Amino acid sequence: MRRVGIIGTGSYLPEKVLSNFDLEKTLDTSDEWISTRTGVRERRVANDAETASDLAKVACERALEAADMYPEEIDLIVMATITPDTHCPAGANWLEAKLEAVNAVSFDVTAACTGFIFALSVAEQYIKTGIYQNALVVATEVMTRTLDWTDRETCILWGDGAGAAVIKEVDADRGILSTHLHSDGAGGDTLLLPGGGSKTTPISHESVDKKLHTLNMIGANQSFRVAVRRFVESCEEALYYNDVTIDDIKVIIPHQANLRILQGMAKQLNVSMDKVYVNIEKYGNISSATVPIALDEAARDGTIQEGDLVLLTAFGGGLTWGSSLIKW
Ligand code: COA
Repeated sequence: MRRVGIIGTGSYLPEKVLSNFDLEKTLDTSDEWISTRTGVRERRVANDAETASDLAKVACERALEAADMYPEEIDLIVMATITPDTHCPAGANWLEAKLEAVNAVSFDVTAACTGFIFALSVAEQYIKTGIYQNALVVATEVMTRTLDWTDRETCILWGDGAGAAVIKEVDADRGILSTHLHSDGAGGDTLLLPGGGSKTTPISHESVDKKLHTLNMIGANQSFRVAVRRFVESCEEALYYNDVTIDDIKVIIPHQANLRILQGMAKQLNVSMDKVYVNIEKYGNISSATVPIALDEAARDGTIQEGDLVLLTAFGGGLTWGSSLIKW
């Protein structure tokens, strides 16, 4: 089987910044409460005209530039999102047209906050087996359009943005060493976006009154504890599978759900937070997009150097969780 690796990354964050102080003006909350409970200080908000595929387009263009490639060289686009422009066509189809990736086939993968790792794994299989050669894996979310802005426990957590990676066959001494995916549908109710599917369509006055079109985190506290456990398990699984230890890892790039979840993970893995890439203070939780955005930042700011072992891990709605170990 061919070895597959990431040869370029890119990301895009909308310009508009919404700080905790801004939220204080409309919600019974405070910067102090939000930052100590979650680590979030501000988040980005897409402007009214921006859709998930618009954010993805810029992230992909930056990833292509980093990879020194053109859109027409891409033959596969896999987009992770729970906030596509439309459910039909798929978000990836809109992106394909905007990028003018005329030789690509495109489709979406839905795995909430673990979406990028699922999408990466799907694209990797096609390249490993020789069916496609050059893939764009992109995660993009406009989470702020799913929120009930009066629900102070939920709306403070989320933001918008996109991250992308170009992947292709690489030399056998680098690339994606392994990817581990998990899901537990029985836990689906804890992180729920009920609206837009056959359960709540057609939209009615009743469904809007019940706010079924907004993100529901009834089990926020419960998911907090499960998230720590799943982050740790998926990291340990990748280490065990590749016969390496946590000391061999240069940086862990986790889904940015809550700073305290990441601290809980680091404690259980017995590593310093210096080894955990954190940017949640700037962007909040952008669901599937947090991992590739952090990966792009780490690649560009020099945190990751050639030959380093990079461990991606995520947990989210579904429930879904997973990890990927990459030799950069
Ligand atoms: N501002 C001020 N107070 C708030 C608030 C806000 N934005 N949101 C909730 N509160 C209040 C609650 O009403 C409650 O008040 P009460 O005790 O009078 O009933 C109190 O704060 C709850 O405080 P606490 O129990 O200390 O909060 P917490 O430590 O459970 O943190 C969350 C709450 C939402 C930050 C936390 O549960 C969380 O991060 N959940 C998300 C988990 C997650 O990210 N999962 C993975 C997703 S991929």
